[in-house]
Amino acid sequence: MLMNGSIPRLVDIVTGLQWGDEGKGRIIDFLSEDAAVVIRYMGGNNAGHTVYVMDHDTGKFVKMVLHLLPSAIAKSKPVAIGGGVVVDPFALIHEVEYVKTFGFDPIGQLTIDPRASLVMVCDRVMDIALELARSKTGQAIGTTAKGIGPAYAAIANRTAIRVADLYHPDAFNRLLDERHAEAANLCRAMGLTREQWQQIFADLTKKECAANDHLIKAQLRSAGSFDYAQYAASDGSIGFNLQQLKANYQLAGARIKTWDCVRDVSELIKATIESGQRLLLEGAQGAMLDNRFGSWPNVTSSHPIAGGACVGLGIGPMLVDSVTGVTKAYTTRVGNGCFPSRITDPDVALWIQNKGQEFGATTGRPRDVGWFDVPVVRSACWWSSIDGIVITKLDILSGLKKINICVSYTIDGQEFKVIPGDYHHLNSPDLKPNYITLDGWNEDISNVRRWADLPVNAQRYLSTIVELVNESLPWRTRIKQISVGPNPDQCFFCD
Ligand code: IMP
Repeated sequence: MLMNGSIPRLVDIVTGLQWGDEGKGRIIDFLSEDAAVVIRYMGGNNAGHTVYVMDHDTGKFVKMVLHLLPSAIAKSKPVAIGGGVVVDPFALIHEVEYVKTFGFDPIGQLTIDPRASLVMVCDRVMDIALELARSKTGQAIGTTAKGIGPAYAAIANRTAIRVADLYHPDAFNRLLDERHAEAANLCRAMGLTREQWQQIFADLTKKECAANDHLIKAQLRSAGSFDYAQYAASDGSIGFNLQQLKANYQLAGARIKTWDCVRDVSELIKATIESGQRLLLEGAQGAMLDNRFGSWPNVTSSHPIAGGACVGLGIGPMLVDSVTGVTKAYTTRVGNGCFPSRITDPDVALWIQNKGQEFGATTGRPRDVGWFDVPVVRSACWWSSIDGIVITKLDILSGLKKINICVSYTIDGQEFKVIPGDYHHLNSPDLKPNYITLDGWNEDISNVRRWADLPVNAQRYLSTIVELVNESLPWRTRIKQISVGPNPDQCFFCD
């Protein structure tokens, strides 16, 4: 038993402060040194967490992109996928095969909560079908097509299939029949044609082959294993091949069972705390994609903000000791929706996009680029009670003569210093970002490892950002860490 009556605060959370892609993966990798267990709390394989790991043959760092497995897999320490995550079992199996090609074997390290829901083939099909329907009225969200929205909708509808169902084949097959029949009915009711239906499966095959190119090239999988057409009804009608689905899910389930990894993650957290050890909770996406507080309706379907960790993992907020927010030194966004601080000068935007390699880790889509948006980070810091900020990719801004910071928005004559609660304001074509402009710096900062060695203008830029963020917080947050390059050593703590 720990500490007489007081609740031990041994849980740290890392969360994104923008629209995802802030570079959380490498920060989690870094902060996981102090944690006994690292746990993903929300989202699914729509996330793409990039970490750089040492290739022992060449002695060089190589890029490893994780979508479901927590980034600390590279630290060979216990990791878990919590009940708030949606798991595509096929994707999970492929990801395990992928990390093995880097010399890591997550089996033995990994726990998966039986409450986590499964992303099924019908969810992936529905994701694309719904986007198709929305695009008719110019309202497509630009989802990752990983089936995330329909999988979370099934949870809310109480029809989702859980990891636990893998151990109950009768229930699994009944739910599979029901969910796939419902999806096909919906698609018929939406007026999808047979050609569109076939096209969805062809698109999924293409996407999966591209996403698993490394496994195909390494001859660990044949391209045929990513053929989604096998799941469509063989007579060409709008329906699924239920037999094929059941056969492949049974194989996937059998594989996952051999890992002996399905256990209550909430109890794992309890046992870790009982032993006096720390836990790191890994967020996916970012605050502006939060299903309630983000840039509605162009959001994801889960809760990336810190509170999402509590509901995703079955713990109370009293266990939380710190919440670290990760933000880029500028802003990026993929998918559709508002982007108040978008850089309008195409030369500058392209320069940052190329220098920062701003292409989606999950979909490969180019990310739109914007100036640092203070209202976004102010709101995100409040929603997640951020006590320390990590600024990533500061090095990308080196070389810009002038750098803008968006300090507020004006909408119909009204100034907003934080994200307006009425989403119509945020999405209004009349929204005007208000900028201040600072002088940039020219020095290469990729070898800087202390605040004091940063160029004065870079220090001024960061100090201005944090002061502006603090203007609207009831406490003072601080810059905790800065990254100046992709390698693990190109990241330093600020005193
Ligand atoms: P979904 O999560 O695939 O449904 O996509 C909903 C929105 O969230 C889209 O705009 C996606 O581009 C965006 N999104 C989802 N996951 C990520 C991520 O990890 N990084 C950046 N954007 C994301």
